[in-house]
Amino acid sequence: MNSMDYTERLTNVTVLGAAGKMGSGILLLLGMEMADLKLKPGGENRNFVLNAMDISSEALPGLMKYLRSQVLKAAEKKTVLLRQLYANRRDLIENSEVIEAYVNEVLELVRPVTRLEAAYDSHLIFEAVAENTELKTKIFKQIDANNPHHPWFFTNTSSIPIGGLNSDAKLEGRILGFHFYNPPAVQKLVEIITIPENTEEMVEFAEQLASNLRKIVVKSNDVAGFIGNGHFMRDALYGIAEAERLSKDMPLHQAIYGINKISQDYLMRPMGIFQLIDYVGVDVVRFIMMVMNPYMEEEDLHSDLLDQLYDKGIKGGQNADGSQKNGILQYEKGRAVGVYSLEKEDYIPFSDFAAKTDEWLGLLPSVVMPWKNLVRSTNKNVVVETVFAAYKKCDDPGCKLALDYARRSREIGRQLLETHVATSSDDVNTVLMTGFFHAYGPINEFVI
Ligand SMILES: NC(=O)c1ccc[n+]([C@@H]2O[C@H](COP(=O)([O-])OP(=O)(O)OC[C@H]3O[C@@H](n4cnc5c(N)ncnc54)[C@H](O)[C@@H]3O)[C@@H](O)[C@H]2O)c1
Repeated sequence: MNSMDYTERLTNVTVLGAAGKMGSGILLLLGMEMADLKLKPGGENRNFVLNAMDISSEALPGLMKYLRSQVLKAAEKKTVLLRQLYANRRDLIENSEVIEAYVNEVLELVRPVTRLEAAYDSHLIFEAVAENTELKTKIFKQIDANNPHHPWFFTNTSSIPIGGLNSDAKLEGRILGFHFYNPPAVQKLVEIITIPENTEEMVEFAEQLASNLRKIVVKSNDVAGFIGNGHFMRDALYGIAEAERLSKDMPLHQAIYGINKISQDYLMRPMGIFQLIDYVGVDVVRFIMMVMNPYMEEEDLHSDLLDQLYDKGIKGGQNADGSQKNGILQYEKGRAVGVYSLEKEDYIPFSDFAAKTDEWLGLLPSVVMPWKNLVRSTNKNVVVETVFAAYKKCDDPGCKLALDYARRSREIGRQLLETHVATSSDDVNTVLMTGFFHAYGPINEFVI
C-alpha cells in the first residue's frame, strides 16, 4: 500500500507550521531536494508539489520572501551541481541565469496555504506546529481520515513520545520523529526516532532523505525528550539548582552570573547554561520540561525559578535576525551584560558585581581556552584533558564547580545510555557536539 520509490514519495509533500522557526527551514531543505529530483533524469515528467501550510496567513508572504532569499544564497554555493542539472538548457549561459532558473524552480513547487485540506493529497507530511500533543494528534487524525494515500507523518517534536502520537492518532506506525535542530538549514544534526510499528521501508526512506539533506543522523529511542533535550533539560536543571545553592551565600543574580560563567568559560562551551536557556526560550524550556515530566517516574523535571521568571514575562528567545532577546540575562550587541533580578524586577548590570564574583571563583587556569579556539585546535583532546587535570589540582570554588558540572553532564549522558534512550556513548557525544556545538562529548574520561 505504501510501496513507492524515493522520488515518488517526494512528489507531493506538505509542511505543517511552515511559517514557524523550524517549518520555514524544513520547507527550504525539502524545496531544494524536490527541485533537484525534478531536474534529475526521471524527474522532469513528474509534477512536484510542496504545500507550505500555516494557519498564520500574515506570515506566508514573508515566508515566500525568506524562501527566495535563502534559495538564492544556497544556489550561489552549488553552481557546479546546478550547471550539471541544467546541462540541457543551452539558453542558460551565465551563472546568474542558472541560479535564477533554480530559484524559480524551487518557488514554483511551493504552494503557500492556510488550509489543512492541502495535505489531503500528500504522501509525506512534515509536521512542525507548536509543541502540543492534542494539537498534533488532532491534525494527524484529520489528515489521515481524509487522505486516501495513507501518508507518512514525520514530526519535528522535540519531546513528545512518537508511540503515543501514533496510538492517539491511530496511524498504525506511519509516523516517526525527524527531529531537526534550529535552524534546520544550518544545523547538521537530525535525531531520527522510530517506533517498532514503522516499516523498514519508511525508516530507510527517512535515512535516505536525511543523507540527501547532508545531515548527520543519530537514532534515538522513543523516550520523551530523546537524546538532545534529555541532556539539555537535566543540564539546565543542574545549572539552576547550583545557582540556587550558591544563592544561600550570595545574591541569586551573582550566583546565576557565576554558574553561567562556569558552564561557558570553564567548561569551554559556546554559551553558558543561562544564555542557552534564553536562546531556546525560558517559556520553551519550561514547556518541554512539562511535556517530559509525566514520563519520568523517578525525577522531577521542573523548576520553580523558571516558573517565577515566566510569570514575570521573562521569556528570552531570538529576534528575527537571530540575535538574542533579553531573558534571564540581558544582551547588548550579542553579549550578555546583566542578570534579571526577581527582587528588583529589573536587570542588574554585570559591571555592578562581576568583579566580586570573579574574584570569589578564582583565576581561570591558564590552560583554559575560549570555546572558539578549542574547536579549531588540532589537539583538542589534549587541551581538554590538561584543563580538567588543572581543575582537579585546584582548590578555587570555580575549579570545583566546573569539575562537578562536567561530572553531572557525564552522569546525565550515562543515564541516557542506561535508560536506553541512546544506544551508544558516541551517539550521546555526537548529539552534544553537533546539535549543541560542544567541543567535547559529555561521556569522556577527562572528568573522572
Ligand atoms: N525552535 C526550536 O529550537 C526547535 C528545535 C527542534 C524542534 N522544535 C519543535 O518544532 C516544532 C515547531 O517549533 P517552532 O519553534 O518552529 O515553533 P514556531 O512557533 O516558530 O512555529 C510554529 C508554527 O506553527 C503554526 N501553527 C500553529 N498552529 C497551527 C495549525 N493548527 N496548523 C498549521 N500551522 C499551525 C504557527 O502559526 C507557527 O508559524 C515544535 O514541535 C518544537 O518542539 C523546535
